[in-house]
Order: sequence, then structure tokens, then C-alpha cells
Amino acid sequence: MEQHQLQTTSPPLLTIRGLQTQFTSARGAIKAVQSVDLTIAAGEIIGLVGESGSGKSVLALSILRLIQSPGRITQGQVFFAGRDVLTMSKRELSTWRGRDIGMIFQQPQGSLNPVRRIGWQVAEPLRQQERISRKAAWDKAVTLLRSVGIPAPEEKALAYPHQLSGGQAQRVMIAIALALRPRLLIADEPTTALDVTIQAQILELLRDSCRDFGTSLLLVTHDLGVVARLADRVAVMYAGRIVEEGPVSVMLTRPEHPYARGLLDAAPRLGQLAGQRLKDIPGSIPDLSRPMPGCAFAPRCERRAKLELDACVTAPPPFTLIGERHSARCWALPQAEEALPIATVVEDRV
Ligand SMILES: Nc1ncnc2c1ncn2[C@@H]1O[C@H](COP(=O)(O)OP(=O)(O)O)[C@@H](O)[C@H]1O
Ligand SMILES: [Mg+2]
Repeated sequence: MEQHQLQTTSPPLLTIRGLQTQFTSARGAIKAVQSVDLTIAAGEIIGLVGESGSGKSVLALSILRLIQSPGRITQGQVFFAGRDVLTMSKRELSTWRGRDIGMIFQQPQGSLNPVRRIGWQVAEPLRQQERISRKAAWDKAVTLLRSVGIPAPEEKALAYPHQLSGGQAQRVMIAIALALRPRLLIADEPTTALDVTIQAQILELLRDSCRDFGTSLLLVTHDLGVVARLADRVAVMYAGRIVEEGPVSVMLTRPEHPYARGLLDAAPRLGQLAGQRLKDIPGSIPDLSRPMPGCAFAPRCERRAKLELDACVTAPPPFTLIGERHSARCWALPQAEEALPIATVVEDRV
């Protein structure tokens, strides 16, 4: 409760409006991210969930302007602390990413340079950004490696990535990502490649580090236990759109969108979710290169099957505010009328 009040009063660090990212293909444009609205407050942890192919990674990369050809951002805005990210020059972008952003991806070994000692990989960005000597940067790197739980960090700093376990490599990635105390950390399935026992430790490290530094975290994950333990807010993606977003306590117990409900249905109690993965829903994500006049989830939607609403197949549902900082995209939200007679419709940029 306390946390929630804090978040509603702090101004957003990141504001995304109407974001659209598409890939050119022989079959036409693949709309991987569409009409995404999302804000992240300073110090807030957002869990981004959704089945494979729903656009989570493309969204994460779009925020950082790391989308490679044949992909590009075709619409929308991204503001970071009031700065317009989509109009930054290459130079501004690289300074911004270096100073304010940390990134952690699924395969730690793949993100590290195989031929450089890990100590240097942690020290180099410190040396450049803080203009300190090599020796001072090295010492700082060793301290950082210790703080992320690397045993014998003086020796391990001399190691090459292949000499580390997966868990150690991901700790090193966290040390690199947090070395410059970024304001926003983007972690895309950071523990998926690790042993279950290591996962919990790495996630705690991630959460505690973010809390200590006041870093905001956008955490892409498949694991509901992770969401329950770490996130303040949860956004659920489906076929390129955020279909529901709200506080973790609401999202894990009474989500309103049929897709979010289906995914999280199993959620018994917040405390019992450790290691629980998202549920499978019959059917699969639609072809994102085909025109979708209605709701992308309609073909798989039980609610639509029952209610037979025309709107579900003729127009995309708007992102509707259904509670405090809680919105969903569905033409048949059961709670919308009961809970909030004047459901506010947030403009939908198609
Ligand atoms: N390099 C690419 N070229 C073409 N299409 C892509 C590319 N990367 C992603 N996509 C499209 O974007 C969709 C979403 O991908 P992604 O964001 O990686 O999903 P998620 O991370 O949720 O599993 C994919 O299903 C695919 O259609
Ligand atoms: Mg992904």
C-alpha cells in the first residue's frame, strides 16, 4: 500500500505512448509491437509477461532503439526523464544508454566478450564514464564482483567468460549492467538459462540491487513466482499489444482480460507461485503480418465465444482504465461496469 502510494506520486521515468514496431518481410509487414502505452516510475519494478512471440523482446529493444533492420519503429513516442528517445542522435543515444540504462539478456555468456578478462569487462565502462585510472577502475570492478556474490573476486576478475558457470556469468552481467548505477535496467528473461536453485539467488540480487540504487526494472519473465516476488506492477502482452496492466496484487489474483486470466488462472496464492510457469492456452498467437480488424485474442477467447460480441471481430478494443493504474483491452470487461460506472477510455492509437 505504502509502495503503491509512492509510485502514484512519483513522476514516470519512462513513458511509452502508442509505440509500434514492425519488421518487413516477404509476406508483408509483421507488426510485432502495436499501440503500446506503458509508464515506469522511478524505482518501480515492472514484470512483462506473455507467451513466446508476443513481442516482449521487441518492445524491450524498441525502448532502447536497438531494433535492427528489417525492423523499425513506425509510430509512437518514448520519453525518458522528459527526453525524447526516438529523436536522439546516435551520439546522444550511446551516451544515454551508457549512463542511464543497464541491460541483461537471457544468455549471459553470449553477451560477454569471450576473449577479454571479466574484470576488464566490468572495469572498462567505469573507466570511460567516470574518467578514473585503470587501476582505480579495476579495484572498483573487483568490489562490484564481490557485491554480486562472485567468490574470490580478485582471482575471478582475471578469468575469461568460458571459465565461469552460467550463474556466475549472469552475476557478472548484473555487475556490468549496474556498475554505472543506471536509472533503468531492462532484463529480458535473465534467469531462463540458469539452474532453478541459482535463479532465485540471481533474482534476489537483481531486486536488492535495484532497490538499493533506486533503479527501475523492466523484467521480462515466464515465471509467475518471479513476478510475485519482484514486481510492483505487471503488464501482459499478447500479439504485440499490452492487453492488461496493473498492480501485481490485482494482476495475480483478479486479472480482467481473458488472456491474462487464462495465463494466470492457476495462481493459487501469491506465496505459492515459486517456479510456476504461465499456463498454456489452447491455440496460438495469430500471424502478425495478417490484418487483424478485431481483437487479436478473439479466435482463442472463451468469453467472446460465450458472448458472441460483434465488436470483438470488427474493431480493436481500446485500453480501458478499470481501476487505479489498472487497464485492460477487452470489449467485454466484466468488472468495468460494476466497479467503475464511468470507465475511462484511453485513446487507442491504431
Ligand atoms: N528479426 C525479426 N525479423 C522478423 N520478425 C521478427 C524479428 N524479431 C521478432 N520478430 C517478430 O516479432 C514477434 C515477437 O517477437 P519477440 O519480441 O521476440 O517475442 P517474445 O520476446 O515475446 O517471445 C515474433 O513472433 C516475430 O513475428
Ligand atoms: Mg523474448
